Amino acid sequence: MTLIDTRRAGRRAFMAGSAAWAAAGWLCPGSVHAQSQNAGATAPTYQPYRGQSGKDVIWIPTPDVHVTRMLRLAQLTPQDHLIDLGSGDGKIVIAAALEGAQALGIEYNPDLVTLSQRRARDAGAAERARFEKADIFESDFSRATVITMYLLPHLNLRLRPRILALKPGTRVVSHEFRMGRWRPDETSRIGHASVHLWLVPANVGGQWQLQFPQRAGPASVRLDVSRQYFQDFDAAVAFRDFETFVREPKVAGEQVRFDITDEDGHLRRFTGRVAGDTMTGSVYDLTGGGAVRAPFSARRVGAAPPIEGTGPAPEGEAESLGTE
Ligand SMILES: C[S@@+](CC[C@H](N)C(=O)[O-])C[C@H]1O[C@@H](n2cnc3c(N)ncnc32)[C@H](O)[C@@H]1O
Repeated sequence: MTLIDTRRAGRRAFMAGSAAWAAAGWLCPGSVHAQSQNAGATAPTYQPYRGQSGKDVIWIPTPDVHVTRMLRLAQLTPQDHLIDLGSGDGKIVIAAALEGAQALGIEYNPDLVTLSQRRARDAGAAERARFEKADIFESDFSRATVITMYLLPHLNLRLRPRILALKPGTRVVSHEFRMGRWRPDETSRIGHASVHLWLVPANVGGQWQLQFPQRAGPASVRLDVSRQYFQDFDAAVAFRDFETFVREPKVAGEQVRFDITDEDGHLRRFTGRVAGDTMTGSVYDLTGGGAVRAPFSARRVGAAPPIEGTGPAPEGEAESLGTE
C-alpha cells in the first residue's frame, strides 16, 4: 500500500466513526447540508458541521465523555500546559482551562478559532484558554506538558518524531488513533472508541556505571543498554564473572525500571528517575520479600545514542498495523 492508500484507509476509518455517530443520531444529513451553506460565514453566526473539511483532516468534535477521560488519563493538573493539535471548536482546550491548566488550541480554520475564542469567553475560561490560527506542522508545541489530538494515523506518525523530542514525561493523549509501533502506555475504551496515552520516554541508551549495595558490599558494575525502542529497552549488567540480561525493562516518562539477579542470587528491582546522564532511585530486594530498599545511582559514560524509532516513520508503518 502507498502512503496515499494509508491516508484513504485512515480517512475511511475516521469517516466510519462519523458514520457510526450519524447512525446514532449525532449527525443529521439534512442539517449538514443546510449548515454547509453557512460554512464560510463569520462569527457569531458561524456554525461548523460535523465532517466539514479541514486542512489535513475533517472536523468532528470529541464527545464530552472522551474529553473527560483524555484529561484523566493525562492526569492534568493546574500546573500543566496543554496543547490540542487541531483544536476544532475548542472543547478540549476549554475543558482543560476549566480544570485550571493553561491551554492552547492550534487550529488551521480561522472560523473555528474565532468560534473557540467566543466559546472560551462564554465559559469564563478565556484567561487560560488561548487559540492560534496555525498549521500544526509548522507550529512550535515544545512547551506543552500535555498534548491532545484527534487526527489520523498518518498524521500522528508525521508528528511522532517531534513528539518524541519533547521533554521526557510529557503526556500525549490521542482520541482513537495510535502512533504506529510506539505502543500506548495505557488505552481506555469507551463504547466503540478508544483513547490512548503515551509518556514521552527518557533516553536510557548507552553505557552506565551503576552503583548499588549487595550483601557482600557495594557493587559498581557496568550497565549496557544496547537498544532502546520507544519505552522498551534491552540491557545487560556485567559482574566480575558473568553478564546478566535485565528483565521487566520499562521506561515510563522519566521513570525507569528493570530487574536483575545479583551476584548473591538476589533478585533486585531497580526503580528510578532519569535526569540527563544520571539515574537515581531505589533498589528492592525481591528475594528478601521486597520490603528492603536501598538507594542506587548510575551515571552515563559517553554519549546517549538516539532512541530507535525517533526518526521519520518508515513508509507503510501505519497500515502494517491497521488504521488504529
Ligand atoms: C477531528 S477534529 C478534532 C477537533 C478537536 N481536537 C476535538 O477533538 O474535538 C480535527 C481538527 O483539526 C483541524 N486541522 C486539520 N488539519 C490541520 C492542520 N494542519 N493544522 C491545524 N489544524 C488542522 C481541523 O480543522 C479540525 O478542526
